[in-house]
Amino acid sequence: MSVLSGKKVLLGVTAGIAAYKSATLIRGFIKAGASVQVIMTESAKDFVTPLTLSTLSKNPVHSSFTVEGDDNAVWTNHVELGLWADIMVIAPATANTLSKMSQGTCDNLLLATYLSAKCPVYFAPAMDLDMYIHPSSKENFSKLISYGNIMIPATSGELASGLVGQGRMAEPEDIVRFIERTIEGKLPLKNKRVVITAGPTYEAIDPVRFIGNHSSGTMGVELALRAAALGASVDLILGPSAIKVHHDLISVHHVVSGEDMYEAVHNVYGQCDIAIASAAVADYKPAQVAQEKIKKNDNELAINLVKTKDILASMGEKKQGQFLVGFALETENEEENALKKLKKKNLDAIVLNSLRDKGAGFKTKTNKITFIDKNGSPTLYDLKSKKEVAADIFDQILLKTT
Ligand code: CTP
Repeated sequence: MSVLSGKKVLLGVTAGIAAYKSATLIRGFIKAGASVQVIMTESAKDFVTPLTLSTLSKNPVHSSFTVEGDDNAVWTNHVELGLWADIMVIAPATANTLSKMSQGTCDNLLLATYLSAKCPVYFAPAMDLDMYIHPSSKENFSKLISYGNIMIPATSGELASGLVGQGRMAEPEDIVRFIERTIEGKLPLKNKRVVITAGPTYEAIDPVRFIGNHSSGTMGVELALRAAALGASVDLILGPSAIKVHHDLISVHHVVSGEDMYEAVHNVYGQCDIAIASAAVADYKPAQVAQEKIKKNDNELAINLVKTKDILASMGEKKQGQFLVGFALETENEEENALKKLKKKNLDAIVLNSLRDKGAGFKTKTNKITFIDKNGSPTLYDLKSKKEVAADIFDQILLKTT
């Protein structure tokens, strides 16, 4: 999944021949999962039509401060547009617009919005080669970079003038990739490794039967997706679950039993920075697994159970600087019991689910948690989607680890 997924991109289009590439650029952002709004300068409309860009972005294109409605003129609020955006991208950025941006000139909607935007601003110059290397252009680039804007350099090739040299706007797919790389480089868990256990475990009774539980693995998968969105490389140790996970930064290790999960965890635990045990590991397993299917010969059947390995406790024992988080599902004296678990398993934090809270725990799309840190200090959260809960958990982890 792209780091642009769910991001709001404000694309500024100025009057260069490369404006025809804006259509492909919008598609690239949308494909990456972003939502897009477009601001065009009046002269950019000579190169590409607002209809094309509004159709592709699925939003009206903005170009002037007022829009004539049926009865009244409607004010286009540049401040609101600037605040809406997570990222502003000016592509193509002409020499004229870049010069105005560096001076703080504000004679059109695009420039007013640029001055109001609080988000990162990227600009992709597009101009002829002599314009690109002119000292005034170079000074404008440097000035804009010194203001915190990010330049996506032009490439070399044949230019609209027929000359060959640097000045061609970067290709749309390269612009998208450039922005993704820049965001990835700034992510708080970049270069960190995270291990997450998730889902149920199945403990075999015989070749066709097992002891299991209703865990779907959703909470752990959401945690893995959140960690990856924050830039971490994730090892997701996933018990039998119907959920399919596809993400470049997530390696999924499919396991069945608690013993498999234990092995898979310890193959990667030594190299990780953060580990979260959200799996519902069976606490007991049959002492013997019958080699053949057990026949129903008698009225009663007793299966002798023995304790499984406590994976989280073993992670606590082997901890060497990892930030270790466990889960606790409690029905009474919730905080007290969770804190006991935190101490006993040598954890840095524990996420408490109370079965007394409606909508919390297994088989639901929602969860209600209390995050308790090492000192026993609890943070209580409302009932939320598991995706939002995963974000809350990582907010807490980032607070404690950075
Ligand atoms: N856990 C584990 N391996 C086990 C059992 C539990 O890694 N064999 C982890 C779970 O993933 C969870 C935490 O330990 O993070 C839960 O601790 P546990 O002591 O098992 O709590 P409960 O399941 O709530 O069990 P109980 O209260 O019955 O002791």
